[in-house]
Amino acid sequence: MSLEDLSYKSIRRFLLKLFDEHGYDTPGLDAKILIMDASQLSHADLLVESSTIPETRVIKKINEYMNKRIKGEPVDKIIGYKEFYGRKYKVSKNVLSPRPDTETLVDLALDEINKSGSKTVLELGTGTGSVIISIILEKKGVIATAVDISDDALKIAKYNAGVYSVSKRINFFKSSWFETVSGTYDVIISNPPYISKMEMGLLSPEVSKFDPFISLYGGEDGLAAYREIINKVGSYLNPKGVVIFEIGYLQAEAVTKLLLEEGFINISVSKDMSGNNRVIKAYKSK
Ligand SMILES: C[S@@+](CC[C@H](N)C(=O)[O-])C[C@H]1O[C@@H](n2cnc3c(N)ncnc32)[C@H](O)[C@@H]1O
Repeated sequence: MSLEDLSYKSIRRFLLKLFDEHGYDTPGLDAKILIMDASQLSHADLLVESSTIPETRVIKKINEYMNKRIKGEPVDKIIGYKEFYGRKYKVSKNVLSPRPDTETLVDLALDEINKSGSKTVLELGTGTGSVIISIILEKKGVIATAVDISDDALKIAKYNAGVYSVSKRINFFKSSWFETVSGTYDVIISNPPYISKMEMGLLSPEVSKFDPFISLYGGEDGLAAYREIINKVGSYLNPKGVVIFEIGYLQAEAVTKLLLEEGFINISVSKDMSGNNRVIKAYKSK
């Protein structure tokens, strides 16, 4: 069926039905976001213009988006950005799109900074930079270092930092975890790849085909990155420093054990908005 001669309202209905038939979780939302981006109309304007027939170039764009979506491409990869902590971040197929669950990591880091007056933060595996940029934007006076092993991710993170005018407060560079990192920090955060070999096979194609393998795969048991980071993190923390990790919802016990083995104290686990264990925090000393 052609979208030509259909009003915005009819196109929206058509896409909703189509995406629903494809079994997507949020067909109505997907349709709305794709139409809003293609037409550059706000949600309110889309309602006002509901009986208008879009211009040919808008129809062309909606068609292009629709064809990508029915091939399984996630909405954020199609439009090129994702919302996180109330702001938009550029994404691409070369970088993990930030997930709502990761906002819990930002909340915990901000709580810690507010409580202790921490001034320096290191992020390992920054991806789009959304986590560290959110922290920096929420807390004046904090400066950060953020590393990633992926050149593509670093390019996007630097771009996103530029959009929010915080490039001077975040030093981005390439490093495999601590390899080229120096100095010590008050807070070290990471959302490392943590999907086990078995779980990789269970991922939906929207994730496995459109987020980079290097941002997902955490080795045979999903814990490879935690082992490597926890083994060294103590040397990069200030005396009362804290390490805060995002974890897979079944990994709290295993990561707690790794932290205890390295002498970390006051270890606590926090849940995400869905009630799953999601973030673990541990202190170097009292
Ligand atoms: C799960 S993603 C998290 C991205 C971002 N921080 C977020 O929360 O949306 C993990 C990130 O770690 C990076 N990464 C994987 N292995 C790494 C390594 N050995 N050293 C540094 N970064 C690594 C990946 O490129 C990816 O950007």
